[in-house]
Amino acid sequence: MDVCAICGSLRKRSFNRMALRAARELAPQGMTIAECAIRQFPLYDEDVRQLGFPGPVQDLRERIRAADAILFVTPEYNYSMPGVLKNAIDWASRPPDQPFNGKPAAIMGASPSMFGSARAQYHLRQSCVYLNMFPVNQPEVFIAGADRKFDENGNLTDEATRKLIARLLQELARWTARLKTSE
Ligand code: FNR
Repeated sequence: MDVCAICGSLRKRSFNRMALRAARELAPQGMTIAECAIRQFPLYDEDVRQLGFPGPVQDLRERIRAADAILFVTPEYNYSMPGVLKNAIDWASRPPDQPFNGKPAAIMGASPSMFGSARAQYHLRQSCVYLNMFPVNQPEVFIAGADRKFDENGNLTDEATRKLIARLLQELARWTARLKTSE
């Protein structure tokens, strides 16, 4: 099972990228999670799109199309998803053959605050409706107090959170298999 992961933070010491790294370690047998880069995306501009998708956008569209499922790992900015993530989704989602269509997905996120990116995740779930993606509903993975849950090397040290991420990925595997058999 090939999972395309998209991280909503670009910074080096990102808690969300650390959480993504933990997810790669905790993936069930048979699941491979690879991060798909969004750093080089230009700001969405319909005039540019008319001339063709920029290379990094085209690459992501192909990765999404080829993947069995998508994993979003997102911070919360001003009670919503960061602009870089929304911008990437906006670019990748344009026709023809909108690549998110019908894809299973899992969503998780981390924040030093007590809400663990919950509000950003609900906005992302709202976008999933329009994109016709099928996100796993539960478990929800809100990594609150993220500044206390990773060590200086970026390892996720909180056992409860490790278990929760493992459960989410098991559920993603189960959900993806179920959607495939119903095709
Ligand atoms: C934040 N942060 C933040 N946190 C939160 O829980 N709710 C919020 O609404 C916001 N808003 C917000 C806006 C902006 C512009 C920034 C830069 C930050 C704090 C944020 O969760 C924190 O910086 C995380 O560490 C960002 O995730 P990464 O980069 O560590 O993955």
